[in-house]
Amino acid sequence: MTLLRSLSFAVISGLIGLSASTDLIRTRRADYTATCQAIAAAVSSASKVYYSGSSQYTKDNEHWASSGSQTSACSFEPANAQDVGIALQLLGKDQTPFAVRSGGHSPNSGFSSTPGVQIALFSFSEVVYDANAQTATIGMGLIWDNVYSELDKYGVTVVGAKTTGVGVGGTVLGGGYTYLSNQYGLSVDNVVSLELVMPNGTVASITSSSNPDLFYGLRGGFNNFGIVTTVTMKTYTQSQVWGGRISYAAAQWDVVNTAIANFVSAVTDPKACVYSTTDYASGVVAIMTILFYDAPTYPNGIFNELLAIPHVDEDISTRAYSNLIQTLPANASSGLRAMFHWVPIEQFTSSMLQMVKNQTLFYGKELSQSSGVLISYDLIPFLPSLYSHSNTPSAFPSSRDAGQGYSFIEVYYGWTDPNDDNVMLQLGAESAAYMKQFAVDAGQNVSNALIYPNCAPPGTALADMYGDAVSSLHSIRSAVDPGNVMGLTGGWRF
Ligand SMILES: Cc1cc2nc3c(=O)[nH]c(=O)nc-3n(C[C@H](O)[C@H](O)[C@H](O)COP(=O)(O)OP(=O)(O)OC[C@H]3O[C@@H](n4cnc5c(N)ncnc54)[C@H](O)[C@@H]3O)c2cc1C
Ligand SMILES: *[C@@H]1O[C@H](CO)[C@@H](O)[C@H](O)[C@H]1NC(C)=O
Ligand SMILES: *[C@@H]1O[C@H](CO)[C@@H](O)[C@H](O)[C@H]1NC(C)=O
Ligand SMILES: *[C@@H]1O[C@H](CO)[C@@H](O)[C@H](O)[C@H]1NC(C)=O
Ligand SMILES: *[C@@H]1O[C@H](CO)[C@@H](O)[C@H](O)[C@H]1NC(C)=O
Repeated sequence: MTLLRSLSFAVISGLIGLSASTDLIRTRRADYTATCQAIAAAVSSASKVYYSGSSQYTKDNEHWASSGSQTSACSFEPANAQDVGIALQLLGKDQTPFAVRSGGHSPNSGFSSTPGVQIALFSFSEVVYDANAQTATIGMGLIWDNVYSELDKYGVTVVGAKTTGVGVGGTVLGGGYTYLSNQYGLSVDNVVSLELVMPNGTVASITSSSNPDLFYGLRGGFNNFGIVTTVTMKTYTQSQVWGGRISYAAAQWDVVNTAIANFVSAVTDPKACVYSTTDYASGVVAIMTILFYDAPTYPNGIFNELLAIPHVDEDISTRAYSNLIQTLPANASSGLRAMFHWVPIEQFTSSMLQMVKNQTLFYGKELSQSSGVLISYDLIPFLPSLYSHSNTPSAFPSSRDAGQGYSFIEVYYGWTDPNDDNVMLQLGAESAAYMKQFAVDAGQNVSNALIYPNCAPPGTALADMYGDAVSSLHSIRSAVDPGNVMGLTGGWRF
């Protein structure tokens, strides 16, 4: 870990060195620090600015993937929306780059990291359940683990992410696919309102009726319109669920693929999910399949075929929903440089699964020639009704996809050497393009299907994620941020 961190620091310093003179860097660094001091002087005493050397600074700058991290001049932990607004105005005035971090799970450089002011939202950490309205108001500094376990106490849940450690911010403002999505849609479909700090410092509650443009843009449009402090989401009654992880060795790969193809062609019960990830590391293949049913037991033997396959390990039980999301060991692969890619498909047929197997082996071998240490190809089946749960349009998934849902192949590459960044991104894009073409050649209608912005690699064209909506999103951004303050932060920029 330490070695990885210092390697990426060396490369970032190296890159800056190429593009600017040392004097200029010193001047800029001093300017950034001056903005840090100005923020500290202007905000209330509850909000804090931290510098290198403090444990809070380290935590604020930390990310799940080291490729998502940079060394900031300081970090800022605002305690209330007013102080977020003061900071945004000072950042705009000084033209100081900044980042907004919720759960820190974006692996893309600069999306939630910066050489300037790192804003970490940890102080927005409350979950307030309103039983009458059947909503929960959730702080943007939380990870879903905390949200689900807090709501478990009331026997309810919300639609967030399906993996431990993922932040509320990037999920609610980006998409949010989870085990409940066949029943209730994505996180963005379940937002009732958001508290937004606009780039000029004004704090507003955004709903579909108060600000239809911003309500549309924020759900999928991330940090283009300001900083969100809390989100209010619909809640759903949640019983104990059945499921967890079952792990198979490579010898069972074809048998598992057959069982998955049988499952997706037979099961249309929206309470049932199968999600399978195949890892390739140092020549060893490991298959981990998550089985999920939204009730204490599953009906009609739907998982019997997968359960009967010889397996090396299992963690399956009737359990709290908050506990189920711990079953995939996602924290174990943190600290690597990382990229994701995303391929929408219509159906996981046997030939499609065979093709994904070949891609896993082909690129697994290819990547181990560089510093690729862990690659995964994930199968994420959903029902065609996936995108039909929304009352109001959202930036993502855009109206182009509305009504027609997809299943997905998710590509993950993890590596250690920053010098391999380009080759990894290039190979990931090559593999994704191959898989998409394979689906198109098989007659699946996915030529124009949009890529999930949360799992798109750096450099993805906006039109590939937002389709025809790009120009209207640009107009909404210009209206709320005429001075382009949010242009000082990274991420997908409208
Ligand atoms: C291990 C792992 C598992 C995952 N599992 C899932 C999953 O099950 N389902 C799914 O849909 N996705 C999943 N993802 C993708 C995930 O949705 C994205 O990585 C998401 O951006 C993470 O959100 P975050 O808040 O943790 O990230 P961050 O890196 O903190 O933020 C991501 C982006 O959102 C912006 N942002 C965050 N909060 C705010 C805010 N309050 N105001 C304005 N802008 C903000 C940031 O500036 C940044 O650009 C997973 C990713 C990983 C690495
Ligand atoms: C994963 O890491 C997060 C911190 O980012 C922690 O809160 C969570 O409990 C961890 N999950 C597991 C299963 O250890
Ligand atoms: C396996 O994948 C590679 C890389 O995409 C491709 O060139 C090759 O033709 C595939 N092999 C088979 C048998 O499909
Ligand atoms: C194919 O998908 C597009 C969306 O990308 C949709 O507009 C079109 O109607 C679909 N065509 C068929 C034949 O289903
Ligand atoms: C800030 O911007 C919003 C949106 O454009 C606007 O409604 C509001 O009046 C502005 N506030 C100030 C103080 O200028």
